[in-house]
Amino acid sequence: MPLDLAFARSQFPALSDDEDSWVYLDNAGGSQVLGTVADRVRDYLLTSSVQTGASYGVSTLAAERLCAGQLAVAELVNASRPEEIVFGPSSTVMIQTLVRAITSALSLGDAVVVSMIDHEANIGPWLALEAHGIIVHRWHLNHETMTLEASDLELLMTPRTRLVVCTQTSNIFGQLIPIAEVTACAHRHGAAVCVDGVAFAPHRLVDVREWDVDYYVFSLYKVFGPHHAVLYGKYDRLLKLANLSHHFVPMDKIPGKLQPGNPNYELSYGATAIPDYLVALGERSGATAGASRRARMAAAFDAIADHESRLAERLLAWLRGRHDVRTIGPASSERSVRVPTISFVVDGIDSERIVRAIDPLRIGIRFGDFYSRRLIEDLGLATGHGVVRASFAHYNTLSDADRLIAGLEQALSGR
Ligand SMILES: Cc1ncc(COP(=O)(O)O)c(C=O)c1O
Repeated sequence: MPLDLAFARSQFPALSDDEDSWVYLDNAGGSQVLGTVADRVRDYLLTSSVQTGASYGVSTLAAERLCAGQLAVAELVNASRPEEIVFGPSSTVMIQTLVRAITSALSLGDAVVVSMIDHEANIGPWLALEAHGIIVHRWHLNHETMTLEASDLELLMTPRTRLVVCTQTSNIFGQLIPIAEVTACAHRHGAAVCVDGVAFAPHRLVDVREWDVDYYVFSLYKVFGPHHAVLYGKYDRLLKLANLSHHFVPMDKIPGKLQPGNPNYELSYGATAIPDYLVALGERSGATAGASRRARMAAAFDAIADHESRLAERLLAWLRGRHDVRTIGPASSERSVRVPTISFVVDGIDSERIVRAIDPLRIGIRFGDFYSRRLIEDLGLATGHGVVRASFAHYNTLSDADRLIAGLEQALSGR
């Protein structure tokens, strides 16, 4: 069944169908926020904004609401238990947190494999392990297939490899990396896996148990929520990570030992509205009556994937039709291949110039390397201000895509 687009759009107060309204096509940078998320943040602040951990009623309510945030995100990613959800301000910080907490468990001569197509958030902190005598093997883009290849990973694995680190979707290419395959390869060699799901999670249903990933990081502000982020870790793995909090905090205080000073309470509570929205969207988009909440979320993402593939096709077809444009990433809009994060360069025109020509049209896109600087350098695109990137979310319409295409036609006609 098709996505109930009218319902979806009605849930995002910033969206409007007026002709002069903004078109948001910078969703890989940050999505719009659900009205219900904002309502819950407000409700938290106005009715339960006290410190958790005391015995009086409002404090226990605050603690329950923080716990509800963990439960909601556990439901969203299919974690086994809410303690597996660690909250923090951003994915960048969550990855740095993981690196800090894991370093003492690594020994001189141990190895980690790190993908070089990632956002720098998931590269730099791991490369810093070299200063501790850890060997870092770099998993490069395969220039023949223009993706990360599991066969290349296999060649990098050694008996001392403890961890494989990679993205599930490049924020430039939009291409899906088969993460279950990566995990299977890492586990065969006795290594754990840390996945950056930031560019994936707004587009497909995350299932950490199905993929058997050990650590998974993503940003809620890209999944229709507040500026807040998540580190999922398998319970037994989190137990073994170092305590980053006060010396008297016990090792089994999870996730507390990894959230020194506590996470943001109101944003954690605001996140409870995200799975509720997806369940409601699934009910309107083909879920069978009486289906479980997870099945309804799956129906929502199934409809989202179809709709987003149509949006991507509208823009990609236009890009394919131009002899002066090169798409950076798959030219296909097929949902099994990509999410609708689409990057391109135009021969002889600086990417900044194109985006600045679009800005007055009230269309939000952007140019640059998107902090995937090593990938952009590897592709030889560092000069010319990187790529132009248009990234759709499920609440975008085909007319949003058409407005962008008309704007690009106009920008390129006077070249
Ligand atoms: C793929 C990817 N990973 C990581 C990050 C960093 O996320 P955050 O802004 O939450 O630190 C981003 C941000 O754009 C991203 O696109």
